[in-house]
Amino acid sequence: MMKDLINLKDLSAKEINELFKLAFTIKKNKKKYNQILTGKTLGLLFAKPSTRTRVSFEVAMHQLGGDTIFLRSKELQLNRGETIADTAKVLSRYLDGLVIRTFSQEEVEVLAKESSIPVINGLTDKFHPCQVLTDYFTLVEKGIDLKKMKFAYVGDGNNVCHSLMQAAVKLGVEFWAAVPEGYEPDKDILCEVSSEADKNGSKIHLTNSPQEAAENADCIYTDVWVSMGQDDSKDKKISKFKDFQINNALVKLAKKNYVIMHCLPAHREEEITSEVLDSKNSIVWDQAENRLHLQKAILVTLMGDKLELNGSD
Ligand code: CP
Ligand code: NVA
Repeated sequence: MMKDLINLKDLSAKEINELFKLAFTIKKNKKKYNQILTGKTLGLLFAKPSTRTRVSFEVAMHQLGGDTIFLRSKELQLNRGETIADTAKVLSRYLDGLVIRTFSQEEVEVLAKESSIPVINGLTDKFHPCQVLTDYFTLVEKGIDLKKMKFAYVGDGNNVCHSLMQAAVKLGVEFWAAVPEGYEPDKDILCEVSSEADKNGSKIHLTNSPQEAAENADCIYTDVWVSMGQDDSKDKKISKFKDFQINNALVKLAKKNYVIMHCLPAHREEEITSEVLDSKNSIVWDQAENRLHLQKAILVTLMGDKLELNGSD
C-alpha cells in the first residue's frame, strides 16, 4: 500500500477492494478496532468548509483510539507566507497523519512529497477520493455488481466526477457522465481514464443528454452545480444546468431498482428535487454514514502499525 491517498489514479483495483473488505470488517466489529490507533494523532488541515469529511474523519479517529487536531489553513503561518513544503516538514514531526482539504491538487502533492507521514486528500478542486471510495463501497454493500451496472453521473464535470471516473475504470464500471456543454470533465483526466478503461473492461461515455445517461441506469448520481470556490459563476451555471436536474421525469428512465446517490451537501430543488432525494430509492444517508467506515479503513491501512516480524521490542 502506498504512503498517501491523494489521487485514485495511484490505487490498483486490488488495493481498492482491500479497503472495501477492511471497511466491511471494521463496520461489523467496531469494538475490535477501538484501540488500533491509540497514541496517534491525525491533523485535519482545511481551507474550505466541511460537514461530512471533517466530522467523519474526527469520529473515525476517536473510535479507533486516536486523537485529532483541526487546523484552519487561514490560522496557520501558511497564511503569512510559510511554504507548504516547510509546513509539511514541521507537521510531520508532530502528527502521525494529515487530511487536507484545499483548492489546488498541486499543493496536496507537494505536501505529500515533503511529509514523512501519510497525507490524505479530503477534497481539492480536482479530486475527492475518500468520497468516491465510499460511494462504490456503498454500492457493493447494497449488493450491486459493479462490473454489471450502468452508472449515470448527471451534472458538473467536477472533482467528484473526476474521482468517480477514475475508480470506475479500475473497478470495471460502465460509466456515463451527462454534463452541459462547456462543463465537461478535465481533458487530461478523460484521456487517462479512457486509456485505462480499455484495459479493465470498463467504458466511459460522455453525453450532453441526461436522458441518455439515465436510460436503464442502476445508479443516478449528482453533485452541486456550483462547487466551493465557484460562487462568482453561480448565476451562469444555474441557468446552464437547469435541464440537468434529477427529478421524477428523469428517474423514470432508470432500471426498476435504481438507486439515487449524492455526495452531499444537496441544494434541494436545484440539482435534485426533494421528492427524489427523500424517495425510497435514495441511499444518500447510508452513503454519508459510510464515509465513517470507509475512512476508518483508510486510516488503519495508512497509519496502523505494521506487524514487525523481526522486531525486538
Ligand atoms: N461530501 C462531502 O465531502 O461533504 P462535506 O463538504 O460536508 O465534507
Ligand atoms: N463538488 C463539490 C463537492 C462537495 C463535497 C465541491 O467541491 O464543492
